[in-house]
Amino acid sequence: MTKQWSPESWRSRPVRQVPEYPDQKALEKVEAELRSAPPLVFAGEARRLKSQLGDVAEGRAFLLQGGDCAESFAEFHPDNIRDTFRVLLQMSVVLTFAASCPVVKVGRMAGQFAKPRSAPMEKIGDQEFPSYRGDIVNNIDFDAESRIPDPARMLKAYSQAAATLNLLRAFSQGGYANLHKVHRWNLEFLDNSPAGDKYQQLAERIDEALRFMEACGLGSDTQTLRGTDFYVSHEALLLWYEQALTRVDSTSGDWYDTSGHMLWIGDRTRQIDEAHVEFLSGVANPIGMKVGPSADLDDLIRVIDKLNPENEAGRLTLICRMGADIIEDKLPPIVRRVQSEGRKVVWSSDPMHGNTIKSPSGFKTRPFDSILSEVKSFFRIHRAEGSYAGGVHFEMTGQNVTECTGGAQEITDETLGDRYHTHCDPRLNASQSLELAFLIAEALKEERLARAQDVAQAS
Ligand code: PEP
Ligand code: CO
Repeated sequence: MTKQWSPESWRSRPVRQVPEYPDQKALEKVEAELRSAPPLVFAGEARRLKSQLGDVAEGRAFLLQGGDCAESFAEFHPDNIRDTFRVLLQMSVVLTFAASCPVVKVGRMAGQFAKPRSAPMEKIGDQEFPSYRGDIVNNIDFDAESRIPDPARMLKAYSQAAATLNLLRAFSQGGYANLHKVHRWNLEFLDNSPAGDKYQQLAERIDEALRFMEACGLGSDTQTLRGTDFYVSHEALLLWYEQALTRVDSTSGDWYDTSGHMLWIGDRTRQIDEAHVEFLSGVANPIGMKVGPSADLDDLIRVIDKLNPENEAGRLTLICRMGADIIEDKLPPIVRRVQSEGRKVVWSSDPMHGNTIKSPSGFKTRPFDSILSEVKSFFRIHRAEGSYAGGVHFEMTGQNVTECTGGAQEITDETLGDRYHTHCDPRLNASQSLELAFLIAEALKEERLARAQDVAQAS
């Protein structure tokens, strides 16, 4: 935390990837309204997540983070929230059961609205308008009026985030996430897919284990089985929104950004002297930072130290997003340097953002095999470097979309157009997400066995 930090100290720093609002008065009015709106999350919840991420940093748990690339006003529907939530639950059950490892579940949900863009303008034919920056900023329709940044959209995003979080809290604590209902989480369209079948078999084994516990009088009706911790996260990009929701926690006296439990810095905005790093350096939430192939090692250590000066385990997650073809070159030096300097971080793999291609039919897509290959390399590299591959970060949805090619459903370039709904990057659908979870569970299991053997040999 810098000495001069305050919730608005980011304003005197260079800032990238935020809109220029044409009407300052309108912006100030929205900020004032948000400042008096209730917090979306509580400091105590963020602290609990930080402590669970501390377990991940130390190799005792695994982080599963996932959800939409961009939430949108148009796709806001309870069924969509439920379906993404339940695929995340299914994935976490697969990972927990197969690898005997607690899973920390964090949605890219209830606030994931603002998007960084590679170009400030978008050109189609001979027309050119400002890029779409997410529903919290402007409208995706391609015309001049739609693309004007409108601060009132922050209020709509806030209320959508509040309603989403309310439903997620109900799902995670109100009975839906009860492990006794593990069968019912399977989505109808997964019924006849290989991943769906495999999941049903696993659910059967879990049922058996629960029945066994009951028969032994071990009581399988504990709070742990009845509900689950589920957290929300998003990229803290639109700093006016983030600042307005930043409050002092009366228990600790620390500042917390109450727009989400965990906030992250994108790959395009992680410069040490600029606004996004400045802002997140002063809030006490657990934070993430994307690390792409352009990261410079010295800069990285300096940013890590600014964001986590106390070297607290669980405070900082490095979300590595390299690309399947370059991860073997790019990641090892980063891991080596951070480890050799003794910096405590959670290492998580985002195998999505380095593997985006344009398909011959013109859709932005990601091949399932590249995604899997990057995750596998991630595990292999950490094994070789003696560090812990602690988590994964996916863009995914519970919907049966066709946005990433491949997987057991064999989505092809020709079928991408069938159900291509994303507002930004292509997402894994429910079946692909579950399939990936089974494959990762294998890698995680191997990893844990190998670590156990190392410990046994050392003692
Ligand atoms: C994202 O996570 O949607 C994103 C824009 O990622 P990155 O900052 O890694 O490009
Ligand atoms: Co994205």
